[in-house]
Amino acid sequence: MVTTLAFDVYGTLIDTNGVIIALEKHVGNKASEFSRTWREKQLEYSFRRGLMQNYENFDICTSNALDYTSSYFKVLLSQKEKEGLMSAYKVLPAFDDVDDGLAKAKKAGFRMYAFSNGSADAVETLLKNTGIRDYFIDVVSVDEMKSYKPNPGVYSHFLRRAGALGANAWLVSSNPFDVIGAISTGMRAAWIKRSPEALFDPWGIEPTLTINSLSNLAKQIDEECRKA
Ligand code: LAC
Repeated sequence: MVTTLAFDVYGTLIDTNGVIIALEKHVGNKASEFSRTWREKQLEYSFRRGLMQNYENFDICTSNALDYTSSYFKVLLSQKEKEGLMSAYKVLPAFDDVDDGLAKAKKAGFRMYAFSNGSADAVETLLKNTGIRDYFIDVVSVDEMKSYKPNPGVYSHFLRRAGALGANAWLVSSNPFDVIGAISTGMRAAWIKRSPEALFDPWGIEPTLTINSLSNLAKQIDEECRKA
């Protein structure tokens, strides 16, 4: 049976820290810290909206998180400046290993999907802008479920959409919460650990594979599938 790969987008294929250059104009040497807080709040807001069953799409989480973060850093952004930062978020870059890793996985014959908390429109724009859209059969957005990862329902929704079974489907993600969510729903999962400092949550639920670069993904998943 052909193996299906569900690639997480923000933080896995697309580098959310790509916004740092645009932030430097507003917060100088605090740009990295600002970017980290913005991303953490964006995720927190998506988790909370999922729990509260008060869904608004990921762009709203990103926008609300930007408002919070600028207040936290005491930066007064005009409406135009805020729009500029939100636009920068729509054209974030891909990580360096992405094109090579996706090309190898495609060549190896995996069925590849993008699977994201982001809206389908935002994800399509990011993937087209970075030249990687054609690697994927389709974009599956949680927006179709009006909930967020790691709600188990959205992973089940992905499997239905992709016509795949958990034992034959892998989530590929740098986000530990996403890996734990997928494994808990019966999928397999590769944690992309690009930095030696990246930490995994100590929940006693481990990734099926830990991989240090997307360039090694196809080979390592293939080896694992042969073992099974
Ligand atoms: C995504 C979030 C997890 O792309 O960053 O789904």
